[in-house]
Amino acid sequence: MKYFLLFGLSMGLVACGSGEKIDRSVFEEVNQSMEVKKVNEAEILNKGIEWGNELSQKAQEQLIGQLTKAISEKGTLGALEYCNIQALPILEEVSSPKNVTIRRASNDYRNPKDKPTEEEQMILEAYEYNEENNIESKANVQEINNGEALLYTSPIKIPGKLCLQCHGNIEEDIDSATWDKIQSLYPDDQATGHEIGDLRGMWSIIIPKKELIKKL
Ligand code: HEC
Repeated sequence: MKYFLLFGLSMGLVACGSGEKIDRSVFEEVNQSMEVKKVNEAEILNKGIEWGNELSQKAQEQLIGQLTKAISEKGTLGALEYCNIQALPILEEVSSPKNVTIRRASNDYRNPKDKPTEEEQMILEAYEYNEENNIESKANVQEINNGEALLYTSPIKIPGKLCLQCHGNIEEDIDSATWDKIQSLYPDDQATGHEIGDLRGMWSIIIPKKELIKKL
């Protein structure tokens, strides 16, 4: 399975979802609009990658921007409370007007809500496999919900020192007051011990095909 996924990931869109069946009767609406617009599956997958990249970059920029601001205004400890409250609304703001669902998933999660679903888990494992074997991970799309939607994913790496204040080594990078606070907010925290360049998790965006076709 891992090898298959690995292939899917390294081939980008070509391999994704091509072997899956679509129930014609259930997806008449999608198919009809595809016919009207004269688009094919490959174009939809391409658009899925493009839109997913756009949304995840936007969300990432907003999170990092707000985080940097919060740290400079309130210090790491203050920012921690801020992230605890604000991460979700930022993601909702990026996704809600577009009928897409955007979230982050990680096996070494801080917030248990970010624990991967079954579908996410397989892709995340492929990203982890790639990391262990020094293979570059790429954005990926695959069909879910019987072909009704696409699941876009892309890896989240630790880009720099900023992240280590809350995700690095305890005491070395994370000061003790911050660590105490992390533990009280997230008793099951597993999101420490990271270094720059580590895989921290992935973006996971569910994009209804109907919405994608509108954009083609
Ligand atoms: C001020 C502390 C702080 C800093 C700095 C920080 N984070 Fe986090 N991070 C958090 C908190 C708190 C959460 C849990 C948010 C929530 O409850 O939704 C989190 C969650 C995450 C998640 C979601 C998965 C999980 O573990 O629940 C990812 C991915 C992530 N951070 C990546 C990063 C990256 C990349 C950076 C650097 C750009 C960074 N973080 C910097 C505090 C921080």
